[in-house]
Amino acid sequence: MSDKATLEVNGKKHEFPLVVGTENEVGMDISSLRAVTGGVTTLDPGYKNTGSCESAITFLNGEEGILRYRGYSIEELADKASFLEVAFLLIFGELPNQEQLSKFAHDIKEQSVVDDDIKKILDAFPKSAHPMGVLSSLTSALTAFNPSSVNVDSEEAMYKTVVKIMGKFPVLVAWTMRKQKGLPLDYGDNSLGYVENVLKMMFKKPNEEYTQNPILVNALDKLLILHADHEQNCSTSTVRIVGSSHAGLFASLSAGISALWGPLHGGANQAVLEMLEAIKEDGGDTKKFMAKAKDKEDPFRLMGFGHRVYKNFDPRAKIIKKAADEVLADLGVEDPVLDIAKGLAAEALSDDYFVKRKLYPNVDFYSGIIYRSMGIPVEMFTVMFALGRLPGWIAQWREMRLRKEPIGRPRQIYIGETHRPFKEISKR
Ligand code: SDX
Repeated sequence: MSDKATLEVNGKKHEFPLVVGTENEVGMDISSLRAVTGGVTTLDPGYKNTGSCESAITFLNGEEGILRYRGYSIEELADKASFLEVAFLLIFGELPNQEQLSKFAHDIKEQSVVDDDIKKILDAFPKSAHPMGVLSSLTSALTAFNPSSVNVDSEEAMYKTVVKIMGKFPVLVAWTMRKQKGLPLDYGDNSLGYVENVLKMMFKKPNEEYTQNPILVNALDKLLILHADHEQNCSTSTVRIVGSSHAGLFASLSAGISALWGPLHGGANQAVLEMLEAIKEDGGDTKKFMAKAKDKEDPFRLMGFGHRVYKNFDPRAKIIKKAADEVLADLGVEDPVLDIAKGLAAEALSDDYFVKRKLYPNVDFYSGIIYRSMGIPVEMFTVMFALGRLPGWIAQWREMRLRKEPIGRPRQIYIGETHRPFKEISKR
């Protein structure tokens, strides 16, 4: 295969180098395009065909339903690793040995106290505030209490910032839920593992000892691993572009949380449960909702279905579907919504509209069913997605900074008014 692409523009031919990745993906390097063509640019709304960077963190193949973190398959990691091991792998590139893992866990625990003044910011929110908006605000506010986290001009400074947010973020996650429920804010317990501590901070009642449930610990650990990274998705691209201006990590993460909030992205896990509940309330008539999803006049979409990259099954959805059955059985929970979900998936997978557009259940389709069985409120589902995605965002931000990527600044094609003289108000 040639190592160059040739483009002909206005009768003139130009060659551009082809970049081939370790999984044989081919990219046309057009960084000289405007210079050699006198200003011609590309146009690709939603960046469906545009690579923003080279990355060594996550590989996914949408046609074959493959997802790997640093070369390890999502199936093996979900089955054999812990979330903290996967976080270390994503951020630093290798699975940690026991000494590295223990140090990482220790350094994170050292940073798991949040400045008490953050509670004043939390108090300013109404109980009705969506937890994603609260979490984004509190994450950005962390910069004010940790100013040294902004100028990370050494790997040591970067490491300190990484363990700071890995330690403090779970506290903020728990506080957003407890705020909504009117419960006192808890710092958890450093004698516990990462996921156990999250569950205790979220669920401990002020007047009872908290007893860990290994089913919930294992389920949450697996869910966090499955959400940990997903190459250049909307929220990760947001973290990268905000970070490319050398805004601090916490400000970049705050922007990523806001991007994830949208119902077309991470907010879909909440939208799925609301959709399934609506179908249940409506008598379980899935065909009616399928018709709405296919009706171009109707803005309704089948939430939890479709994906920008996966044009086959989302491997995470397969794992979560199996986990949903196991967790609900282990908890002895009968949830009719799971049956509705399975019925909807079966119908869509045999419906021409969905088959033709290669629309399959994605990571958000079943995850909310497990979160709900764990007693997590539906408004907190996307917050749990953010907790899982945190190490992926950190890894992508760190890679961008270490590779000294340029500030992100896309071009455009202007389609507005051409030059015109100012018009006095009396003449408008
Ligand atoms: C996540 O990018 C990532 O990796 C994201 C993520 C991650 O881990 O970070 O995987 C997490 O965000 C998963 C996606 C969660 N979102 C949803 O479940 C919301 C419902 N899904 C859709 O909104 C949609 O499928 C997207 C946004 C996920 C993908 O949209 P695309 O790639 O821009 O596809 P499109 O909108 O161009 O749709 C192609 C066609 C269109 O029909 P036609 O114009 O060709 O006739 O498929 C239709 C769409 O109308 N379509 C749907 C549909 N999704 C796409 N029709 C009904 N229901 C849907 N869910």
